[in-house]
Amino acid sequence: MVQSIKDTTTLADGTKMPMEGFGTYKITEQDQMNQAVKAAFEDGYRLFDTAQFYNNEQVLGNAIKKLGINREHIFITTKIPEPKQGYESTLKAVDESLTRLQTDYLNLVLIHWPIHSQFFNTWRALEDAKKAGKIKSIGVSNYHRTHLELLKTQAKEMPVVNQIENHPYLTQEPLVKFDQQSNIQNQAWSPLGRGLVLHDETIQKIAKQHNKSIAQVVLRWHLQRGIAIIPKSTHPARIKANADLYDFNLSDDEMKSINKLNRNHRTGDDPELVYEIEHQY
Ligand SMILES: NC(=O)c1ccc[n+]([C@@H]2O[C@H](COP(=O)([O-])OP(=O)(O)OC[C@H]3O[C@@H](n4cnc5c(N)ncnc54)[C@H](OP(=O)(O)O)[C@@H]3O)[C@@H](O)[C@H]2O)c1
Repeated sequence: MVQSIKDTTTLADGTKMPMEGFGTYKITEQDQMNQAVKAAFEDGYRLFDTAQFYNNEQVLGNAIKKLGINREHIFITTKIPEPKQGYESTLKAVDESLTRLQTDYLNLVLIHWPIHSQFFNTWRALEDAKKAGKIKSIGVSNYHRTHLELLKTQAKEMPVVNQIENHPYLTQEPLVKFDQQSNIQNQAWSPLGRGLVLHDETIQKIAKQHNKSIAQVVLRWHLQRGIAIIPKSTHPARIKANADLYDFNLSDDEMKSINKLNRNHRTGDDPELVYEIEHQY
């Protein structure tokens, strides 16, 4: 059971990844990034999640540099966007991320969304960038079971992380189970459903029992399912509250009643459609 924000999971390639990290989508202003990263670091977050699509790698790199800490003390994830997929362009994209993030290695690089025409080439580039020492771990995002099974037909090594949309209204139980059986760590994006689940009456009742907020109960529910989380907030009080998850446990019954809230509701794109049209919509 995860007991502290510093707790890590050992990925299939042997590297360690914090179970909780900080999401940075939509934080693009330098001052706001500096304030958020400083607050998050002080509250114990050690993983920072960005993507080329977010247009904030440079400001995140600056904010991390400003902390003045050793590189080994933090874990940086970024993602390859659809237009940069393909063998040569992915290798170039990795170098661009290294420059913008001002580091000589990335802890984790994910293919942001599967697209059909560059499906294998992009993965081969990540395998090679890892071999070259530019990336410690390689993974995917928004991959369904079918994408993972297809990848397996040609991959030299399999992804160690699948970052997927996950929250009480989109539990994706079959995919979560498949990933767990395949030794692929699930990481939830939009773990709070971008705010969608924060008024749920069932979760509100559970939160009251534990003297916690709905957001804290939802984040704890992910961790107790073995799912890593990367909540995002620009408010220092919320950043702190989202890290204060380690002094209570949800009972089996409470876990089950949150599981039952699933309604297959996506706040983001459908991976199958992105695979076909080859870009987010
Ligand atoms: N791989 C992918 O395709 C993908 C897609 C989307 C996101 N992501 C990653 O996942 C991270 C998290 O997802 P997300 O940012 O979409 O959504 P999220 O973390 O589920 O929710 C963020 C929203 O909830 C609010 N919030 C956060 N903590 C709160 C709290 N304690 N109480 C009340 N409101 C709270 C935030 O507002 P304030 O900022 O105003 O506090 C923000 O509007 C992203 O930042 C990004 O790094 C990945």
